[in-house]
Amino acid sequence: MARALQIVPSVLPADFARLGEEVVALEAAGVDRIQWDVMDGRFVPNLTFGPDVIAAVRPHVTVPFEAHLMVEEPDAMLPRYVEAGCEILIVHAESTRHLHRSLGRVAELGARAGVALSPATPVAAVRHVLDLVDLVLVMTVNPGFGGQPYLASMEAKVAEVAALVGELGLDPDLEVDGGIGPDTVAGAARAGANVLVAGSALYRDPEGLGHAVALLRERAAAARPARTAA
Ligand code: DX5
Repeated sequence: MARALQIVPSVLPADFARLGEEVVALEAAGVDRIQWDVMDGRFVPNLTFGPDVIAAVRPHVTVPFEAHLMVEEPDAMLPRYVEAGCEILIVHAESTRHLHRSLGRVAELGARAGVALSPATPVAAVRHVLDLVDLVLVMTVNPGFGGQPYLASMEAKVAEVAALVGELGLDPDLEVDGGIGPDTVAGAARAGANVLVAGSALYRDPEGLGHAVALLRERAAAARPARTAA
């Protein structure tokens, strides 16, 4: 059975002074889960929020949370994100010396593990940890900022991951993140992505979040190859 299409907002463009209300609005807009872009100012040249902010917002909604960990050496902090209410922890392949150990640690903590690949990182870098993950995130921008242009050149990498997991008899979610909007989502879905993360495209829709989410879902569903159509 093909993995369901999921529309996941990045809260990076949200009003940080009203994060509780913002996640309630996202849940009401029909998103499937919410992504927290955790940036440490070292792995990426930007600084966002940590587990305390996520924990403060957790009681406001029931939709699942995923933490996209753009941090150097994430291992020590992993338990804090699970305690804060994140069901999925996404570790960047480039952020830790012992990726296999870091992903195993996420599972030990009772969370679902995801592995992320920055644009320059080849699929081969994660081949031997794919059996440990529930999700592979192919970044479609260089991590660190919202509002960047979509890298269509990453669609070949999405297709490569889709083929490799098929070959290995695995079935993780295939997630893309960065520059996803009404004019780019079809390419990513056609390449095999079933989880579409979007930030600025959701917040700049003049007809509101609900319309933006529905439009992405509709265009992704229309573009999915027949064999993966939900
Ligand atoms: C970038 C983040 C993305 C970003 C997406 O490092 O991982 O989640 O916020 O924002 P847009 O959709 O505006 O590119």
